[in-house]
Amino acid sequence: MKTYLVTGGAGFIGSNFVKRMLSVYPECKIVVLDALTYAGNLGTLKNELTDERCSFQRGDIGDESFVSGLFKEFPIDYVVNFAAESHVDRSIENPQLFLQTNILGTQNLLDIAKKAWQTGTDPNGYPTYREGVKFLQVSTDEVYGSLGETGYFTETTPLDPRSPYSASKTSADLFVKAYGETYKLPVNITRCSNNYGPYHFPEKLIPLIIKNILEGKKLPVYGNGTNIRDWLYVEDHCKAIDLVLHKGRIGEVYNVGGHNEKQNIEIVKLIIRTIRELMTEHPAYKNVLKKKIYDQAGSLSVDWINEDLITYVKDRLGHDQRYAIDPSKITAELGWTPETPFEKGIVKTIRWYLENQEWVDEITGGEYLKYYERMYTNR
Ligand code: NAD
Ligand code: TYD
Repeated sequence: MKTYLVTGGAGFIGSNFVKRMLSVYPECKIVVLDALTYAGNLGTLKNELTDERCSFQRGDIGDESFVSGLFKEFPIDYVVNFAAESHVDRSIENPQLFLQTNILGTQNLLDIAKKAWQTGTDPNGYPTYREGVKFLQVSTDEVYGSLGETGYFTETTPLDPRSPYSASKTSADLFVKAYGETYKLPVNITRCSNNYGPYHFPEKLIPLIIKNILEGKKLPVYGNGTNIRDWLYVEDHCKAIDLVLHKGRIGEVYNVGGHNEKQNIEIVKLIIRTIRELMTEHPAYKNVLKKKIYDQAGSLSVDWINEDLITYVKDRLGHDQRYAIDPSKITAELGWTPETPFEKGIVKTIRWYLENQEWVDEITGGEYLKYYERMYTNR
């Protein structure tokens, strides 16, 4: 039986990964380490926490004695490091927190894993490790910077981060690589494009637009809305991480992406259309609307859910124009391909939000409201 330390497992992608692992591997043991910042929520793992194979540990990846204690308490074979400050806009507001968690926190995890897994030293002085252990760093395509109209990020594209968030993720990647080279720690790095799906915190584009529509608020589009992201359904990402963890060549970087480029404005328009259509087809969904408008016959109207809600706001500083991943390495080596077409994934996602408003209400308490005001008032 393998034991996985999943850091950031109460966040968006980490929680989807925990759910996947528990359902795919009956014999696994999962230790979730999460600080439960604004982005983490135990309600996300409600079912998993009643599973005796899953243990939740609240703490900071940067806390040396806490993380060392976990390695003493559990026979950890794999570290999958999702824990991070993950939002570009927040990194523009407070870069230092991103250095602390994303860089120093990752280095702390690497150091403790190295010590816990070391069995001896080889004749050249390199540490040797317990059989079958691995440290997987969940990284982002944003480390490669921004693309023009053509081209794709491959694993050999030079690192060129532009935001404090991507600079911190790049630094973390370099430490992971350094531990792989200098101490021969068995590592992999995955670099993924933008994820979407259930349990996505509504500070990010897709869940924020859904939330605002349900509240009858304006839909803020940065700049002129032509920036491009390469969207990947979160479960497809989790499958890729599972494959890299178990089959990836030690020391390698794998890009994970869906060949699914969309301009932000296209996404916003698609969400508007889809919510209107879903509510027309399934009138019960209208119950979740916070703003209720009745037509002359007295039925709830959804005609107001239209493109007039869109408002173009001040652009993000240093806004990367385009991300697009070339996933041919992970496809050729590990047979991974994205399975969820965007058209299906976005409807699944929107339906999930319509059916899980309690989760949204739980995670978007006081801190979120203050954040929203700070970020969007007078933008
Ligand atoms: P998220 O913000 O939803 O979740 C992050 C989780 O980490 C939260 O549960 C939070 O409580 C926890 N956390 C934060 N600081 C911590 C600390 N110091 N110690 C322990 N736990 C801490 O993020 P996400 O979208 O799930 O992203 C997960 C990882 O994937 C991140 O490393 C991110 O850089 C990377 N990534 C995300 C995307 C995306 O589209 N969301 C794309 C590529 C890569
Ligand atoms: P986001 O979801 O924050 O992810 P990332 O910055 O990591 O790509 O943003 C996705 C795109 O949507 C990005 O180009 C910024 C844009 N955006 C808006 O136009 N309005 C918003 O309110 C947000 C949060 C993002």
